[in-house]
Amino acid sequence: MSLSKQTIRIVKATAPVLEEHGETITRHFYQQMLSQNPELLNTFNATNLKTGRQQAALANAIYAYASNIDNPGALTRDIQRIAHKHVSLNILPEQYPTVGKHLLEAIAHVLGETATDEILHAWKEAYGFLANLFIEVEGGIYRENEQLDGGWRGTREFRVVNKVKESDLITSFYFLITTDRTS
Ligand code: HEM
Repeated sequence: MSLSKQTIRIVKATAPVLEEHGETITRHFYQQMLSQNPELLNTFNATNLKTGRQQAALANAIYAYASNIDNPGALTRDIQRIAHKHVSLNILPEQYPTVGKHLLEAIAHVLGETATDEILHAWKEAYGFLANLFIEVEGGIYRENEQLDGGWRGTREFRVVNKVKESDLITSFYFLITTDRTS
């Protein structure tokens, strides 16, 4: 799938607006998404949300995407970094539509009448494109991790068999696999 010329033009043209309102949009986005999907509260780091770090990270990522939409190769390193973070938290393809829905709603809410149907349609298409890219990259990392010697996919149960205080700041935890079952 590739993006239409019209979408590329609109997303690039609206990138400065996204830069200006990015954090207002992402604050609204997290507020709405987490109040309507409280199960996600366990996935996001509460401190990063409280300090605004996560809202800023998402706003920066969206702005970087919008301004490089005609040159996605420039984003490869960022996409890899974010994908590894997502994989470390077991983010799954079926969660992307929830994020997309709330992101689009937040853009519409914050931009008000400025967000015409044409602009919202372009952003919907652009989000879908980026989401597919992440899903593909993350799928590759999940497969790689699974194929490693002793690797697995998803969550796995461990038992803490030892805990050693190494210093005032560092404690080592020793884990033992309790089951072969993975999810
Ligand atoms: C195209 C869509 C998405 C973009 C652009 C995006 C972007 C980002 C960025 C920039 C970060 C910060 C990475 C870092 O710390 O270096 C992040 C982290 C994260 N993302 Fe996404 N993400 C997307 C989709 C999703 C989806 C579908 C979920 C699932 C609910 C999700 C959940 C998370 C979580 C839990 C973190 C870690 C936050 C924390 O540290 O508390 N993301 N994402």
